[in-house]
Amino acid sequence: MYTCLNATIYTIHSHRGGSGKSVLSLNLSLVLAKNGYNVLLVDLDMRAPSLYYMLREPPVRYWINDYLEDECGFEETLIDLADEFGLKGKFKASLANPDIDAIKETLGKSRRWEMNALKKLIRIRKTLGEEYDYIFFDTSPGIQYSSINALIASDNIILVVVPDRVDIKGALAFIKEIYDTIKTKSYLVVNKTPTPDISQAIEFGEKISSELKIPLLAAVPYYNDVVLSNGVEYLVLSRPDHPFTRIIESIADKITSLSQRSS
Ligand SMILES: Nc1ncnc2c1ncn2[C@@H]1O[C@H](COP(=O)(O)OP(=O)(O)OP(=O)(O)O)[C@@H](O)[C@H]1O
Ligand SMILES: [Mg+2]
Repeated sequence: MYTCLNATIYTIHSHRGGSGKSVLSLNLSLVLAKNGYNVLLVDLDMRAPSLYYMLREPPVRYWINDYLEDECGFEETLIDLADEFGLKGKFKASLANPDIDAIKETLGKSRRWEMNALKKLIRIRKTLGEEYDYIFFDTSPGIQYSSINALIASDNIILVVVPDRVDIKGALAFIKEIYDTIKTKSYLVVNKTPTPDISQAIEFGEKISSELKIPLLAAVPYYNDVVLSNGVEYLVLSRPDHPFTRIIESIADKITSLSQRSS
């Protein structure tokens, strides 16, 4: 199996909320770790943290919030989940604190604080890069400072868009203003296509991809099972034949072949 000498960081981002960033970050992490890669998942959506609940509230000593506040080292925030999920590779997560006071605390941070937070994100790869093949940053939608920091600190961006004109228009503005400025390689996932038919979903995806001028990584239909299993069951582990699992596996394969090509 191919292993990186240094982790590749993917930031999962979107223009609007609810497009499926956290679902994609978690499921991609699980599939890559199931396939033997070492994966680190970081919840940088400190305004609306959800990975803690999606991971069924594991015991947490320190949050990513504490690391960014200089209250602990990054490694002290890590929760080891590989055994619980029976994964071949490493799977660790650094979670954002869902407590309402912690969320309030993240609002209105100074520019100086955010600059320090960026340095600390960059430091994650410097200290742990050799231990992991992939690091995923799950972010807040839009142009929150924390999301821009994540985009800057990453190698690749996965933009998650739903096939909704308003989301597409917003994403376009965004790409022009931000992605084109920071010049990080970006890929598109069109999520929640309103058809279960995979080839029709890909048609939706290709159209949006040519409008946004970002290569399409995948088109994912809307599945009731995804909503119903969120925070309860992990479809990609429990239902290998589910079409959602197959699509996430195909994204994981593309990601690993991208790493092989760029090494
Ligand atoms: N392909 C899909 N089919 C059906 N439901 C989906 C799909 N992808 C995500 N969802 C559902 O959409 C909702 C939002 O997903 P998720 O929390 O991953 O979005 P998000 O982009 O992280 O949102 P936020 O911006 O608030 O962090 C959840 O209820 C999730 O189960
Ligand atoms: Mg989310």
